[in-house]
Amino acid sequence: MTLLDVKDLHAGYGRSEVLHGIDLTVEAGEIVAMLGSNGAGKTTTLRALSGMIGRRGAVSLDGKQLPSDDARAAVAARLAHVPEGRGTFPGFTVHENLMLGAYARNDRAEIAQDVAYWEDFFPILGKRAKQRAGTLSGGEQQMLAIARAMMLRPRLLLLDEPSQGLAPMIVQDLFHRLQEINGSLGTGMLIVEQNAHLSLAIAARAYVLEAGRISVSQPAAELRANDDIRRAYLGG
Ligand SMILES: Nc1ncnc2c1ncn2[C@@H]1O[C@H](COP(=O)(O)OP(=O)(O)O)[C@@H](O)[C@H]1O
Ligand SMILES: [Mg+2]
Repeated sequence: MTLLDVKDLHAGYGRSEVLHGIDLTVEAGEIVAMLGSNGAGKTTTLRALSGMIGRRGAVSLDGKQLPSDDARAAVAARLAHVPEGRGTFPGFTVHENLMLGAYARNDRAEIAQDVAYWEDFFPILGKRAKQRAGTLSGGEQQMLAIARAMMLRPRLLLLDEPSQGLAPMIVQDLFHRLQEINGSLGTGMLIVEQNAHLSLAIAARAYVLEAGRISVSQPAAELRANDDIRRAYLGG
């Protein structure tokens, strides 16, 4: 079943259009990667999907249309977005950040269970629960950003460059954890990532975005074998 269905998506800033009609899908429980060079429009795509900016075109989640420019509606449809630069609140504690991720829920007992679940899943978050998020390392902050997004119990998780600024070993671990989350909870994921090695390793399919248009849409394994893609995104 199709989880996310995007048709003819146009979006931009003011009068300048950045996305010129994008079609993409994420099936239920699927991990999909989006590659593309700097400025291609990857972040804009995620912003348009999560209602942070306006758009034209049709976006549906679980068969329900999402209104444009309405972040609340996206959250209500259980679409979570881990933005570029992580978006955690540095002045709040780790625990408070997790609670903030549940702001749209009111099932208090289950929220407490979920906090415990994520503090256990990422043990460092449990250990640092009372510390301010700003004191965490980059990798720990990315874990917190993911755990906070998961507090929404999302159907679909949008991730914007989760590897940015992190050491290779930490990134590898992080991508394994994403794979585990997907495997155990069935959360669909759309991962925007310039580091194609790892995103293609965990994704079933991938899109390449070039200047606001999808130029390639292929199973991840085929994309890894594509010479042009190897040169552009996989370092030969
Ligand atoms: N807030 C903004 N206001 C105006 N233009 C923007 C804004 N954010 C991004 N852009 C422009 O939109 C284009 C796509 O940017 P972006 O979606 O961030 O690309 P990517 O994430 O693929 O690097 C770029 O030309 C960028 O300069
Ligand atoms: Mg970006």
